[in-house]
Amino acid sequence: MRIAKQRRFLMCRPAYFDVRYSINPWMDPARPTATDVGLAQWKWLHDLFAELGHQVELIEPEPGLPDMVFAANGAITLDGRVLVARFRHRYRVPESASYLGWFGRHGWREVRQAEHLNEGEGDFLLAGDTFLAGCGFRSEPRAHDEVRVFFDRPVRSLTLVDPRFYHLDTALAVLDGNEIMYYPRAFSEESRALLGDLFPDAILADDADAEAFGLNAVSDGRHVILPGQAKRLADQLAERGFEPIGVEMSELLKAGGSVKCCTLELRGDPAE
Ligand code: ARG
Repeated sequence: MRIAKQRRFLMCRPAYFDVRYSINPWMDPARPTATDVGLAQWKWLHDLFAELGHQVELIEPEPGLPDMVFAANGAITLDGRVLVARFRHRYRVPESASYLGWFGRHGWREVRQAEHLNEGEGDFLLAGDTFLAGCGFRSEPRAHDEVRVFFDRPVRSLTLVDPRFYHLDTALAVLDGNEIMYYPRAFSEESRALLGDLFPDAILADDADAEAFGLNAVSDGRHVILPGQAKRLADQLAERGFEPIGVEMSELLKAGGSVKCCTLELRGDPAE
């Protein structure tokens, strides 16, 4: 039996959710969006985390920042230290100030904004004690070195090559310690070889599940919350003893985000 670990998450209510610009292939401003549907899907996810026993903190959404719901991009936290994002696209640049403010007000002492382009947990996922770090579309390779130094942890760089999977967390999810699932075709040949060496037992996603954003999942070590359309991934997870929980995130997917994008993990008590 898999054991769930209680997590602390930071989320942002999509009060101003919309698709008004396009910075990834999923975003089409001509396609109508419904903020109330986005809100309802987000609330379902929020309430599910709470029911599973996780602690959820909230950051106030800002008018004019429709992508702020994707809290994963706001920062990286570990051992009470916080590296706040530096966004690539001008539309999201102002979000950093909100995160700097939030962490400052909530007692986190070591809070710094990244010097190099760094889209937070969208591109940096902790597997065991190592960060898996994405580049190719958003975060830049120099940001990988910055994370290595700031958190004093090993970092493995991975290159994304398919624009639909522009953040690492759209192509790979950490399930527990060193267990991961990923979509091989989202990565360069070299990165695919590295992933094969590091994680020979990983779950591999097929095209359909990757396109349904099945890798944009959150695991607590037992429950794996992922888009409900990713059926084969759910079966593979169940075979390994996880409890997959499918959720509906179709509205937020119009902006290129799903479960994990909405969820920033808070690691380490700021008071320590
Ligand atoms: N529209 C947002 C962007 O392109 C979506 C971000 C999704 N977040 C993530 N962690 N993958 O920046």
